[in-house]
Amino acid sequence: MTAAAPDRAAYWAAEAVPLTGPWGGVNMAWAAVDRHVAAGRGDRPALRWTGRDGATATLSYADLSEASGRFAALLRGLGVGKGNVVASLLPRRPVLYAAALGALRAGCVHAPLFAAFGPEPLRLRLTLAGARAVVTTSALWARKAPASLPDPFDALLVDGEGWEDRLAALEPAPCVSTGPDDPALLHFTSGTTGAPKGALHGHGAIVAQHATARDALGLRAGDVFWCTADPGWVTGTVYGLLAPLAVGATLVADEGDFDPARWYALLERERVSVWYTTPTAIRMLMRAGLDLPRRHDLSALRHVASVGEPLNAEAVTWGEAAFGRPIHDTWWQTETGAIMLATPPGQPVVPGTLGFPVPGIEADVLAQAGEAGELVLRPPWPSMFQGYLHDEAHSRACFTDDGWYRSGDLARRDPDGRFRFVGRADDMIKTSGHLVGPFEVESVLLEHPAVAEAAVIGRPDPVAGEVVEAFVALKAGVVGDDALARDLVAHARRRLGPALAPRAIAFADSLPHTRSGKILRRLLKARELGLPEGDTSTLQDGGR
Ligand code: WT7
Repeated sequence: MTAAAPDRAAYWAAEAVPLTGPWGGVNMAWAAVDRHVAAGRGDRPALRWTGRDGATATLSYADLSEASGRFAALLRGLGVGKGNVVASLLPRRPVLYAAALGALRAGCVHAPLFAAFGPEPLRLRLTLAGARAVVTTSALWARKAPASLPDPFDALLVDGEGWEDRLAALEPAPCVSTGPDDPALLHFTSGTTGAPKGALHGHGAIVAQHATARDALGLRAGDVFWCTADPGWVTGTVYGLLAPLAVGATLVADEGDFDPARWYALLERERVSVWYTTPTAIRMLMRAGLDLPRRHDLSALRHVASVGEPLNAEAVTWGEAAFGRPIHDTWWQTETGAIMLATPPGQPVVPGTLGFPVPGIEADVLAQAGEAGELVLRPPWPSMFQGYLHDEAHSRACFTDDGWYRSGDLARRDPDGRFRFVGRADDMIKTSGHLVGPFEVESVLLEHPAVAEAAVIGRPDPVAGEVVEAFVALKAGVVGDDALARDLVAHARRRLGPALAPRAIAFADSLPHTRSGKILRRLLKARELGLPEGDTSTLQDGGR
């Protein structure tokens, strides 16, 4: 599947044609929704939603076009327009879909935030983005609003007084004429050595998102598609919203929390045909046993795929027992904007492998054949990120001298061309599929008066993949007891929210440093796991 560059360019140019609007450019909201309405498919179901309390709602493509159009009109009325960042901090309710698409229609940049973030991660991200507005609920905003915000800034409360009437009074606004390079999405991803980074994607990314939904997930118009990813992360935006709509599928959305019995019932009731979930969810389903899936009619299910963290071989085989088909792994990143590696539907799955590059993508491993090295991708492709917001240096560092995009992941290649995930080349933590940067957590721990130094690592966990663990060196004279550990966890949860806060605190007399003063998280992790310590030649004396 390694295509020469001119072939790839021609491939993507052809892929863009059906998604291009009548003004000659591309707009994600038009490609995902309006083009179906324009083609007479407006009455098809776009979203089938189940609420926490069992309520349900169905929105057709025409409904979604209208609702997002009113939202775009509301933004316009507030003077929020092309290029402005509109963040969303919302539970998984229909309004979230209308708000995201509405922002895109208006030419704004949609920046989803994770509802399990606390005030500090929210402040950092809203400030970095220079967000012009956030769309949220009164309850979430009352609990999480940071003390300092960009200026000017509007908090749009979707359950606020008069909200519905205000929207109903507006004429739905059409899509603004955007082009492939106009910024559309801003997703925050973690850094190891600094604050979170904002990865930008242009409207043209929808071209690769659409193609990969078709080629890597096997999605077709009329399919019923369920992506369990949280809407606050990139998978939730790309495969929980944009790509399946662009294909013409029906999205299934569930507001509730993970619950095996409810999940199987939902797969059966909605007759889900393609399902995209995570290794953590699959491992939790494995724990709930095989009786449950066997009691449900899952015959509509044609394809099951997973993403975000390593999918263990046992999970793949378990999928065969539970669903009558293996689980297909897929690999990508916030930066790549769409699936890059997968075993295509219908092709045999080799458990423990990520599969092959999707059509239009060239991937390689920077190592001798069969050995582990950095996984790299050959630009350009339509959903390739445009860079990190206000961070030239990190954006540039993502490329080798001869122009390959560096994933920061280590991989290996089988003789048959399949890629295997080996590990990350950095200190990033993957907990329940969410990327957590140690620096962000360490910074908040350092605010605590008892803490002299902190180092945060991912401790392997049989269900979550990894959980966040903090090593803390205390200031002179402070005693590290259980009460202090609890106090530190409480402090971290208050500031960071449950998504980022450490689960465990370990007190240490001192933390290992390199001679240049960097904390050697890798060494702490190796010691914690009883693994070889590797190259410790840069270790500073006294770090033991
Ligand atoms: C990192 C990207 C995948 C999009 C949503 C998360 C890890 C991703 C796999 C996989 C093992 C995987 C990598 C990657 N990852 N897919 N199939 N097997 N690891 O995007 O938050 O930017 O995380 O997730 O380490 O670099 P992200």
